Amino acid sequence: SQTSLQLPSPYRLVELESIDSTNAEAKRLAEQGAPDCTVVWAKRQTAGRGRRGRTWVSEDGNLYFSILLRMPYPMEVMSQLSFVAANAVADAVQVAATRGAFVNVKWPNDVLLEGQKVAGILLEGEPDLKTGAFKWLVLGIGVNIASHPALEEGAYPPTSLAAQGVEGEGLDVTLMLDTLTKRFLAGLATWRNLGFGPIRRHWLARAKGLGGPVTVRLPNEQVQGVFGALDEKGALVLHLDGQPNRLITAGDVFIPSI
Ligand code: BTN
Repeated sequence: SQTSLQLPSPYRLVELESIDSTNAEAKRLAEQGAPDCTVVWAKRQTAGRGRRGRTWVSEDGNLYFSILLRMPYPMEVMSQLSFVAANAVADAVQVAATRGAFVNVKWPNDVLLEGQKVAGILLEGEPDLKTGAFKWLVLGIGVNIASHPALEEGAYPPTSLAAQGVEGEGLDVTLMLDTLTKRFLAGLATWRNLGFGPIRRHWLARAKGLGGPVTVRLPNEQVQGVFGALDEKGALVLHLDGQPNRLITAGDVFIPSI
């Protein structure tokens, strides 16, 4: 159930019953001059969006929210923020799930619970070509708590906290939002003070398939290689047989389960 929540400063919370997409709403608010760290939280979405033009099934009982970020970040650091977010989501899922639960991150910013996708992140921005920074960024996060969509052809297998046997407080949507936004604020401070290094290390410590074979699906091709590293811009470094490394900056990564 959704109870009223006090988020720490500088967050400002906008709570909604239903909206097309919290990312779309945060963008509309951005255009109307809403301040940095405005959080748009909805019980359900009627047109939830996923990465690469996909839809995000958004029934009651899961967490759907977006954070408006207005700091004048240089554009090349945009992707770094999605790793700050993925770490916060993974931490929050670990807190909500049982202690022994197996939480992973999958490039670029999916969070896996017991090897299946439990959360997704969609980062969108409005570039300002004059300054080379973003006018604003919208960081959208969806966490499957009570339910998850059916397995779809070509998609990564989904799960939810409930489907993994989590009970009680672990299924509290409000608590998840509270934990997650606090972790994100802490990650943001680390990133600002110390740069991407500690964020990348934290992410890599939980990265699924590091050092092993992965398949990357791109719009027009499929590439197989070894997941070697994450570079300083957040690109996946793919080692290929007898060829130079390839930097992957978009696409879907599939990791064979052992
Ligand atoms: C993905 O893995 O494809 C990203 C999914 C992002 C879903 C969240 S739910 C809240 C926010 N509003 C949206 O329309 N999408 C994001």
